[in-house]
Amino acid sequence: MPGTVIVGTQFGDEGKGKVTDLLAADATMVVRYQGGDNAGHTIRIGTETFKLHLLPSGILRADVTAVIGNGCVIDPAVLLSELASLGTRVPDHGRLLVSDRAHVTLPLHRALDVAQETARGGKAVGTTGRGIGPTYTDKVARAGLRVGDLAEPATVRSRLEETLPHARRSLSDSAEPSLTDLDALVEWCVAQGAALAPYVTDTSLAITDELAKGHEVLFEGAQGTHLDIDHGTYPFVTSSNTVAPAAAVGSGIGAQHLQRVIGVVKAYTSRVGAGPFPTELTDERGERLRQAGVEFGTTTGRPRRCGWLDLVQVRYSIRVCGVTELALTKLDVLAALPEVQVATHYRIDGADVRELPASLRAIERAVPMMVTLPSWKGLEGLTLAGLRTCAIADLPGPLGAFLRLIEQQTGTPVTLASVGPGREQSVLLGRRSGEGRTRFAWREAS
Ligand code: IMP
Repeated sequence: MPGTVIVGTQFGDEGKGKVTDLLAADATMVVRYQGGDNAGHTIRIGTETFKLHLLPSGILRADVTAVIGNGCVIDPAVLLSELASLGTRVPDHGRLLVSDRAHVTLPLHRALDVAQETARGGKAVGTTGRGIGPTYTDKVARAGLRVGDLAEPATVRSRLEETLPHARRSLSDSAEPSLTDLDALVEWCVAQGAALAPYVTDTSLAITDELAKGHEVLFEGAQGTHLDIDHGTYPFVTSSNTVAPAAAVGSGIGAQHLQRVIGVVKAYTSRVGAGPFPTELTDERGERLRQAGVEFGTTTGRPRRCGWLDLVQVRYSIRVCGVTELALTKLDVLAALPEVQVATHYRIDGADVRELPASLRAIERAVPMMVTLPSWKGLEGLTLAGLRTCAIADLPGPLGAFLRLIEQQTGTPVTLASVGPGREQSVLLGRRSGEGRTRFAWREAS
């Protein structure tokens, strides 16, 4: 049985947590493969709402093993408090596996993140302040601590002896002295290591064994393709590879296992932090989207910038991630608007452009070319319970036209439509053939 990757095709916050939680019903394992507690997944089950940062979404299913892979960075204190917040749903040790090769975010990494952002002034990335960049920087500089190291006090001490002088130079004089105090840090690391120990293992081995048994394994991406360190809008990106192929490296498995890649597309676009955003709405329409979609960061509470769906961006993600099918989310949010717009290509310096340029200056000059469609009503009857599988033709007409435009422009089937936050508010779309093509008229974004 191949593994399935669930990856964001935009700037994160596409609703990957809900899609993962839904698909986890048929899976035995859910793996996080990159990022740290910069991520934020909101999952609604009945009347309960869970906000997860480090734990994979599958943790809420009693029969699923949740894995934090080697490609992740882990702040042990955050992980332990997130576990505690699950209350009666806390997993027993065998149901959460943490890679011994994942890197550790120390309190000083957070302080460095904040200090670096302050130093950037008007050019700040708008990071989550969770120490993600500095932790990955130490990893690549071969100066980091891995989760497995926490069980070896001598390793912790000698690594910190080596790296703390540099951290002290990077932090301002006003930084809390205990952040770089060798003895205090060693003590902290050893205590956190002891608390995490029951979960720590060689997760590559565990995942490979699970795949070999023929079980369904989900790989849950964090952030989105356009925040990827290589493929995103650099330097306004996060510090890890968020794309689907990173699931192999970040969990220690062969790439041949990743045959199904679900690209999650929010029906509109949002971005937290700085960086180019061609379809951004800076007027009251953006505010309406923000309020209707509750677009405020799960991790930082910051209001998200909002705008129309950008298919240039989605096509790019399909290419670099090897997306095989799309899951559309938050379709109910657009139902609140009188009409819906979608960018299919850009006009840059008078030329039609269908592929995303690398140059941020070129992206900033891009005028998105928009198709306008009527919005839709009548989503109430669309639930998993009432309508497990249907075709696009069975959906309300304008919603069908929206999904058909996406399929036509991306050459990729939409197989899941989410029409509300609850597990049940989802429709699985069967694959079809021979549906007629619809013609659309373009105009420049206004
Ligand atoms: P960092 O990952 O905290 O270093 O932040 C780098 C950029 O990625 C900033 O623009 C953040 O707002 C953004 N970012 C990080 N994690 C998420 C996420 O889970 N959703 C959306 N944006 C994110």
